[in-house]
Amino acid sequence: MTASKDTRGFTSNLGAIVAAAGSAIGLGNIWRFPYTVGQNGGGAFLLLYILFVFFLGLPIMMSEFVIGRRSQRNTVGAFRQLGPQYKRWTFVGVLGIVAAFLIYSFYSTVAGWTLNYVFLSGSGQLSGRTPEEVSQVFASFTSGTAAPLVCQLAFILLTAAVVLLGVQKGIEKCTKILMPLLLVLMLLLCVRSLTLRGSSAGLAFLFEPDFSKLTWSSVLSALGQALFSLSIGMGALVTYGSYIRKEDNLFKTGVCVAGADTLIALLSGIAIFPAVFAFGMSPASGPSLVYEVLPNVFGSMPMGALFAVLFFLLLSIAALTSTISLLEIVVLWAVEELHMKRVTATFLVSLLVFALGTVCTLSFGPFADLHIMGKTFFECLDHLTATYMMPIGALCIILFLGWRYPKAEVFDELTNQGRLKAGYFRVYYFVLRFLAPIALFIILIMGILGNS
Ligand code: TRP
Repeated sequence: MTASKDTRGFTSNLGAIVAAAGSAIGLGNIWRFPYTVGQNGGGAFLLLYILFVFFLGLPIMMSEFVIGRRSQRNTVGAFRQLGPQYKRWTFVGVLGIVAAFLIYSFYSTVAGWTLNYVFLSGSGQLSGRTPEEVSQVFASFTSGTAAPLVCQLAFILLTAAVVLLGVQKGIEKCTKILMPLLLVLMLLLCVRSLTLRGSSAGLAFLFEPDFSKLTWSSVLSALGQALFSLSIGMGALVTYGSYIRKEDNLFKTGVCVAGADTLIALLSGIAIFPAVFAFGMSPASGPSLVYEVLPNVFGSMPMGALFAVLFFLLLSIAALTSTISLLEIVVLWAVEELHMKRVTATFLVSLLVFALGTVCTLSFGPFADLHIMGKTFFECLDHLTATYMMPIGALCIILFLGWRYPKAEVFDELTNQGRLKAGYFRVYYFVLRFLAPIALFIILIMGILGNS
């Protein structure tokens, strides 16, 4: 395969798949997915989640790719580039830039914790402790000032370094090394977890659906988790779509990315639940599952310290390939629309993210009492982006493509100007016009009602 001559984008289809999978696979898969499955009763939720990924998430992902590749622009410029009559839709891109900026701010807080947990578990500070002490370590670290901020800054700088190197030498090369590493680490952890005595209860929890446990709110959580995990609704995939080569198959690329994302989520379930059950812990302990429950599990496991380091390293890598894409969305916009240099844009955006991120990080400590509508600043950003901005962004994107942009153009882009077969197109277009907007509208309304 010859490398693409234009220097704008990825050099191969594999490069595009790995980078987009890197964006999708992140804290969402290894931190958020297990605890949401745990809170929603296991198997039945998982089944629903998989349905949502492939029947709703995949078509929306392909739609973002179509907008990005057809326009060859950042997520704001994309709409204008598709035609002057669509200029009004640039607000969708602006919403995406803002969402990326906000998500990056709080995501980097958790990413920073993860980095610190690599060192904590590596230096043995988590082993040989009682569950109370493990929780104590978590609380005293996250409520501090200097330590979590330094970790967050380190993570932001690491991300900036990759983005600074550009699309091919930075993002593509770096994700091509990190993603296979992530898969190997994950498989190792699965083997360890499955060989623990008493692990089968965890597998049963994950894979035996009990539909009586499904509630309306778990249906909404499954859909929300699917959108978050696939990085949908905020222009990340428009940006990466603009880097996909003209000869690549967007459907195939989407299937691979959604498949890889689901595989890693499943593997992380297989790595975590058997261990949680084998050590008699509760799967429903919420967001602290990974930081407060797992260290206990590692602590009581043969070679636990080693596996603890590997696990948190894995989580850091997954987070890094996602923050790279979060930063890239904003940087590409600043480069193309504000005509900044990549270096200037990268540093400026990173600096601003660290400023806002500082407030997020400190909302676990000195700013814990600062509440906006009953939530800490961190919770506010998380809620604002996941409950409102991502579903609204996704809804606007598919309304644009399904109802405003000509069907023939969509078909043209998906078939590479008629060169590819697209037997799926009728189903895709039906989902795009009807099923997906209705589903998104429902989660949006339920999200608003549930929180008012
Ligand atoms: N998908 C990422 C994860 O699973 C989180 C995420 C949501 C994201 N939206 C994004 C990452 C946009 C990059 C860009 O952790």
